[in-house]
Amino acid sequence: MQRLVILISGQGSNMLALAQACRQENWPAGVVAVVSNRPQAAGLVKAREMGLRTEVLEALPGETREAYDRRLAELLGALQADWILLAGFMRILSAPFIAQFAGRIINIHPSLLPAFPGLHTHRQALAAGVTRHGATVHFVIPALDAGPIIAQASLPVLSGDDEASLATRVLALEHQLYPEAVRTLLSGAVRFTGGEVVRSGPPSNSQEFSP
Ligand code: GRF
Repeated sequence: MQRLVILISGQGSNMLALAQACRQENWPAGVVAVVSNRPQAAGLVKAREMGLRTEVLEALPGETREAYDRRLAELLGALQADWILLAGFMRILSAPFIAQFAGRIINIHPSLLPAFPGLHTHRQALAAGVTRHGATVHFVIPALDAGPIIAQASLPVLSGDDEASLATRVLALEHQLYPEAVRTLLSGAVRFTGGEVVRSGPPSNSQEFSP
């Protein structure tokens, strides 16, 4: 059984989508813990309601990014994490941490990367006037929102869309995309090793889901 640890900071809807898919589809994996850097994250309650182990790892006053990441790495080591799934984890990870877990840290980002890295992606998409928007699951590398892409899903931007409506539709898309991408990883069809992505099955990126 491959051991999944999901890192959150907020509402945890992607965490829930992953945990539910893992159980309902009998993945060769289990969610061994949900870790939040914020004790008040609503996702912690949802995780406990599912009977999942939860851990809170708050940054200490004045703690450096590297020192926090060392404590996080210790926790993940104790949990024997095979895969670290970032699901709205609002901290930038340091290069040593990423190197320690190279190829095993995955993130979901609410845009069609490389378009619109960083925050406020839906606002950025509307301002740019794009006709399609979506989400990306990618391997984490030290450069922000820039790692090799595992899977993407897109939807049309509608003429009446505002930031909130677009965010809602993209989030629903994320709930399909993230489990789909993790299924691909667990099957071994895509790996990130030695700085290169190796795909052994048909390419699984640029998937289209109905909006
Ligand atoms: C999602 O939009 C995800 O792409 C981004 O943060 C948001 C987290 O939402 N990284 P949730 O906590 O999973 O509901």
